[in-house]
Amino acid sequence: MTTTSQSAGKNRVLTGDTPTGRLHLGHWVGSVEQRVKMQDDYDCYFLLANMHAFTTRADQPGDIRQDTLEIVKDWLAAGIDPVRSTIVLQTEVPAIAELSWYFAMLIPFNRVMRNPTLKTEIETKGLGDSYPFGFPMYAVGQCADILAFRPEFVPVGEDQVAHIEMCREVARRFDQLYCGVDSHAEDEAYEQSGAVFPVPKALVGKVGRLIGTDGTNKMSKSLNNAVFLSDTPKQVKKKINAMYPGQSREPDEPGDPSINPVFQYADVFIKDEAFVAELRERYTKGDNLGDGHVKAHVIEAVNELLEPMRARRAEYEGPGGDDAVIDIIRAGTARANATAEATLYAAKEAMKLDFGRRDLNWR
Ligand code: TRP
Repeated sequence: MTTTSQSAGKNRVLTGDTPTGRLHLGHWVGSVEQRVKMQDDYDCYFLLANMHAFTTRADQPGDIRQDTLEIVKDWLAAGIDPVRSTIVLQTEVPAIAELSWYFAMLIPFNRVMRNPTLKTEIETKGLGDSYPFGFPMYAVGQCADILAFRPEFVPVGEDQVAHIEMCREVARRFDQLYCGVDSHAEDEAYEQSGAVFPVPKALVGKVGRLIGTDGTNKMSKSLNNAVFLSDTPKQVKKKINAMYPGQSREPDEPGDPSINPVFQYADVFIKDEAFVAELRERYTKGDNLGDGHVKAHVIEAVNELLEPMRARRAEYEGPGGDDAVIDIIRAGTARANATAEATLYAAKEAMKLDFGRRDLNWR
């Protein structure tokens, strides 16, 4: 059995999503597109962070369950291949919960509370000071989500980088305390120095922050400014056509593409860069280019991206669709447990907790 970040000659990748609803274009350009590509070259683990969903929605177990299934449908639609990649259900990987406890001993409470991603979330979700203990705990849990699989890379959106940084600190601390790794060792040297945990690296997608259809905020389900991967062609058209182009102008009047959010979409979704450059030039000059025209090109490009996703999603939308998704989750989670248990016992051995070994045999 392989116990390092290498498996079958491929380095490992882990990332995940908290099931909060359907995935949108911001998720696609921020992370999902990269995951789909990485499947060719890496041993990929994609985690359903359903335990984390309980940090803010403990009173909605039914919704969390349904959101979990939806997100897998989005992944499959987007091109995640459950044969080559491993889909992991967080709540059925006990090694993650156990490692969370050990890691919680290695990180100062105040360090967790200073985590800027947690602070932003407390603000934007209006959690005030009434959030549960488990809310900040999830950041420690996320270190365990990652390290249980000993990946080399963690592809994430920009907002997650602070969590990955904390995870890197935890890995170094563990390896220094329990594996005798020198505190001056380079991150890359950890594995050769007897570490249990490699120091993983965040990989941020090509667009860290995709603007929403409101033209001002980051695309987000809760702000009602998202184009979902599962939207119909009609919904895509309606949402993009309703966007304010940042200015009011006639087709023959000069315009400023840099304050028009539709141009960010043009840059990101229209593949032909020369064509986008030409649109930009004509818009700037006022060369008979209306806002409706720019939008029409963007709508076409977005629909071209989403069309194959809609087709793949349709396979799981009829009767029996949820059961097929659950089978995929179970098969992936069984594989994931083999990896995570191996990590857990390597960690316990390093911590002198080698009192015996359970056989999980999860099905
Ligand atoms: N916190 C991440 C989010 O809300 C989801 C997540 C949980 C995750 N565990 C992870 C991402 C491990 C990367 C690695 O999007």
